[in-house]
Amino acid sequence: MTMRAPWDIGIQPSEITPESVWQARRCWLQQAAWGTLALSTAGLARAENAPEWPPLPAPRGPRWSVDEPLNTWQEITTYNNFYEFGTGKSDPAEYAGRMRLTPWTVRIDGAVRKPLTLDVDALRRLAPLEERVYRLRCVEAWSMVVPWTGYSLSSLLRQVEPTEEARYVVFTTAVQLDIMPGVADRILDWPYVEGLRMDEAMHPLTLLTFGVYGRTLPPQNGAPLRVVIPWKYGFKSAKSLVGIRLQSEPPVTSWMRAAPSEYGFYANVNPAVPHPRWSQETERRIGAGFFSSRLPTHPFNGYAEAVAGLYKGMDLARNF
Ligand code: MTE
Repeated sequence: MTMRAPWDIGIQPSEITPESVWQARRCWLQQAAWGTLALSTAGLARAENAPEWPPLPAPRGPRWSVDEPLNTWQEITTYNNFYEFGTGKSDPAEYAGRMRLTPWTVRIDGAVRKPLTLDVDALRRLAPLEERVYRLRCVEAWSMVVPWTGYSLSSLLRQVEPTEEARYVVFTTAVQLDIMPGVADRILDWPYVEGLRMDEAMHPLTLLTFGVYGRTLPPQNGAPLRVVIPWKYGFKSAKSLVGIRLQSEPPVTSWMRAAPSEYGFYANVNPAVPHPRWSQETERRIGAGFFSSRLPTHPFNGYAEAVAGLYKGMDLARNF
């Protein structure tokens, strides 16, 4: 089977959303940004948007949170990548609501002493939830600041007692063929598979995520649970998990399989390593307004102090 990224079939990332739609959205986003500025607090923004997803309250975890203005609920839930539902940024918000979310279990197995199959409620209760404000930097050179709710994935991984063989973690995500129009397109080989080295997965920043903006995750953001790895390009943060497997060998992830010269296993945010077809030196902050300048992209998305030590001695231009 040939697996191709949208841009391998002649579509540039900037073209995934048609230019006219993109321009219209920019104007709209600008208005939304001003609206949020006027409201000025996240709490007011939450109330104003009155989203339908059940509340998932959790105290803010200051240790791992960045102190930057949040993107709005509207921005975070309408500008998404979730290729199972199409390549357009608005496709997930339009189609992911059809996802069947109950029953939903996650199997955690492989190189572990105590494999587990847990439903979402049991997973949510496994460790105290906290809200963490993380930057999300997409490989397409846009970024957002998002208040996620969850706990460090390490809390779950410890429960299954990894064996000495456990050197990598593989995330497998849901496929619901009948309601996922993107799966028929064969842009990627489904299910969407991502992975981390064990020490990356055990790093406290790696968040098993159940909520956003004090509410349960809406489908377009990866309901009912996903991972968020803030120092890596957004595609590593797999949505709608159904399996977590520990193993000795590095997995071949969906994007590596689709375009190995463009998407490496590590995918650490790195302004010094351009994507083969565009620079990674700067980023566009979603909602910042049409005329605002691009922001510089920082190594490890600004989390270098916390995670650079994981890669000591590695050539990050080769291990991209
Ligand atoms: N997970 C699945 N299952 N399918 C996807 O297409 N897209 C990834 C990642 N997780 C994706 C996924 C990409 S490319 C990005 S940038 C982030 O999700 C976007 O997350 P967000 O839509 O919540 O901002």
